[in-house]
Amino acid sequence: MKILANDGIARTGIDALEKEGFEVLTVKVAQEQLQNYINENEVAALLVRSATEVRKNLIDNCPSLRLIGRGGVGMDNIDVAYAKEKGLHVINTPAASSESVAELVFAHLFGGVRYLYDANRNMPLEGDSRFKQLKKSYGSGTELRGKTLGIIGFGRIGQATAKVALGVGMKVIYFDPFMEKTSVTLSFFDGQQIAFDLESRSKEQVLKDSDFITLHVPAQKEYVIGKKEFGLMKEGIGIVNAARGGVLDEVALIDALEKGKVSFAGLDVFESEPNPEIRILMHPNISLTPHIGAATGEAQDRIGIELATQITDLLKKN
Ligand SMILES: NC(=O)c1ccc[n+]([C@@H]2O[C@H](COP(=O)([O-])OP(=O)(O)OC[C@H]3O[C@@H](n4cnc5c(N)ncnc54)[C@H](O)[C@@H]3O)[C@@H](O)[C@H]2O)c1
Repeated sequence: MKILANDGIARTGIDALEKEGFEVLTVKVAQEQLQNYINENEVAALLVRSATEVRKNLIDNCPSLRLIGRGGVGMDNIDVAYAKEKGLHVINTPAASSESVAELVFAHLFGGVRYLYDANRNMPLEGDSRFKQLKKSYGSGTELRGKTLGIIGFGRIGQATAKVALGVGMKVIYFDPFMEKTSVTLSFFDGQQIAFDLESRSKEQVLKDSDFITLHVPAQKEYVIGKKEFGLMKEGIGIVNAARGGVLDEVALIDALEKGKVSFAGLDVFESEPNPEIRILMHPNISLTPHIGAATGEAQDRIGIELATQITDLLKKN
């Protein structure tokens, strides 16, 4: 049985699938040639990340397809309900990348409180001629320890982020209408564990009480953070969005940055992805990454294994 991993798959996943007798094709087929390729090769499973689109017409015109797999979480690029209606298995790997995204959030936060996003832009240009002035510009950093992190959306990634925050010594508060109470357990290298019982607060309370805010909600029809929400936040807050472009109003963000309401933002996802607005890209107080939350070797290995296990269960054992 042939599997096309059109947006790539980790070696661990390929090995696990080949061990089960599947043939894994890792060519990158262009979107417009995908239908032909799948039909010519009688591909049974199409694996994608966020790049390849799997829409109704592809599903209708590729009768060999039995399974669509998304390495990662969000399935906005797949017509999931339609595929299931047509009898296809649709799978994803919801848990595999949570820790990687959580660590990226902290890369933005640690970078944010010490102005790394700006220092890294200016040191190559002026580090030799204006060292002392730059030292002064970036000389009023703060620590994360002891500050309050507000987490909006307390699912897998929200909770993984909370664990890092607790480990750093931050206070954690969260808002999640579907997760009233949660216990998060921190596991340490020597086997010790500490459990923290946390309770959801109102969104307003989280916006008002946080020194930093990070978003971990799924894609929504409306902004989760816009002009009104920025208005409720503390002066000089730092905000991170590694969830989905479109949950944070970028126009309102620029305005809040200009007014000093927000001191810095860390963005891994963008409203107009894959062509982020130039005002966002050029803003001196925004720390930028190109949607790489899940892009670590460890997460990709876990994604590969998780996909291989599910595919084997669904296509071989049934
Ligand atoms: N940056 C990246 O590369 C990357 C990688 C993986 C996932 N993600 C994104 O991260 C987000 C979270 O993923 P997850 O695995 O934690 O999902 P999850 O489903 O485990 O958790 C999402 C949580 O958000 C809550 N929620 C929904 N609407 C809300 C709202 N309006 N306000 C507050 N809470 C709300 C839900 O109750 C749920 O508990 C998704 O948008 C996903 O696409 C990004």
